[in-house]
Formats: sequence, C-alpha cells, structure tokens
Amino acid sequence: MDCLPSEVVTPRLDVRLWRTDDVPVLRAAIEASLDHLRPWLAWIPSEPLSDEDRTRLLESGRSLWEKGAEANYGAFHNGVVVGGCGLHRRQGPDTLDLGYWIHADHVRKGYATELARGLTTAAFGVRGVERVEIHHDKANVASGGVPRALRFTRGQDEPDQIRAPGEIGIDCTWSISRSGWATRRAPTLP
Ligand SMILES: CC(C)(COP(=O)(O)OP(=O)(O)OC[C@H]1O[C@@H](n2cnc3c(N)ncnc32)[C@H](O)[C@@H]1OP(=O)(O)O)[C@@H](O)C(=O)NCCC(=O)NCCS
Repeated sequence: MDCLPSEVVTPRLDVRLWRTDDVPVLRAAIEASLDHLRPWLAWIPSEPLSDEDRTRLLESGRSLWEKGAEANYGAFHNGVVVGGCGLHRRQGPDTLDLGYWIHADHVRKGYATELARGLTTAAFGVRGVERVEIHHDKANVASGGVPRALRFTRGQDEPDQIRAPGEIGIDCTWSISRSGWATRRAPTLP
C-alpha cells in the first residue's frame, strides 16, 4: 500500500503526523476537551491515558502509517494544537475515510473544514484513491456541517452500532469522488 501523506499545510494549519514528543500537548488538548469530545468519540472513556500508554499509541500509529494503513495527525495553528484528524482505509481499497476532532477552545473557527479540505486534496494525491468519505452519527450535527461545507454528497443513512454516548446508531455517509473534488474545490469556494 502506498504511504499516506505525512504532512499537509493549509492556510492556517500545519497538519502532520503525531510524534512522540507531542505527548504533553496532545494530553493537554484532550484533557481540556473531554466534555466536548465525550458524546461523540468512542476512545474518550480510556482517557486520561498515562504518558507511557499515549507514547505507545503514537508509536503504533506511526507503524501503521509506515505500512500505508492509516495516518493520524495533529493539527497545529502557530504551533498550538487545535485538533486531531486521520485518514483511514476502512471502506475498501480505493477509499479513504477522514475523521476529525477540534479542541474545545477552537471550535467554530472553520478549522475542521479547513483540515478536511486539505486532507481530501492530499488523499487524492495517493495512488489508487478514488473516493474520500466522512462518516458521522446522525445526532452529530456539528460533524455533518463539515462535509456539507465541502460539498460532499450525502449517501444513504445506515443503522450502525452506538459507540459513544451522544450517538443514536444511524451512520451518515458523505463522499466525494476524485473528479467531483477536482470540480468542487474551485478557488471561489469557502
Ligand atoms: C465536529 C467538529 C470537529 C467541528 O469542528 P469545527 O472546527 O468547529 O467545525 P467548523 O468550524 O469547520 O464548522 C463547519 C460547519 O459545521 C457546522 N457546525 C460546526 N459546529 C456546529 C455546532 N456545534 N452546531 C451546529 N453546526 C455546527 C456549521 O455548519 C459550520 O459552519 P459555520 O460555522 O459556517 O456555520 C467539532 O465540533 C468537534 O470536535 N466535535 C467533537 C468531536 C467529533 O464529533 N468529531 C467527529 C466525529 S464523526
């Protein structure tokens, strides 16, 4: 499998693979955002991780990236963590799905949309990728605002497991094809 991008630079953000020396800033960002993230992210109950466990997690993320399997990024604005995001190969060989969270102090500034835009462009730079998807639970209206802003196409809702307390168990899928993205990312778009 081809490697996924290691870094994507957008107008305000440096989106790059987490490194083990990010452990303190990542811990601080998650701790400050626990109440905001808890309804929607399945991994929050295991927080707060010890620094040792977080280091191991970042190392295992790095080795998955080296295998081309997935990429987990920090999003930094002027060196400050504003969120995290990832590209994953969970939806078949020609598709990457994109996930994100934004630090509680930095929401509603367009960061999720900006990083998702940058990652989508980067994803189509990976050989064999023909489709990018964003999935969210139907109750997670804020998450759905991101693919809507990027003019992804909404697919059929499907029943899904409930993995986090705010979810209602309906998966919403948004997607865009390579050719669709080439058309829609025209410079006039927000
Ligand atoms: C979902 C999340 C990543 C959005 O991050 P963000 O940086 O605030 O999003 P943006 O500023 O790019 O917002 C894009 C659009 O989404 C919609 N949106 C974002 N937050 C919203 C909210 N709280 N309520 C309703 N709509 C919202 C809006 O339409 C917004 O556009 P606008 O601000 O011009 O109206 C953030 O709220 C978050 O971290 N949530 C918890 C984790 C999570 O749910 N991750 C996704 C799991 S699928």
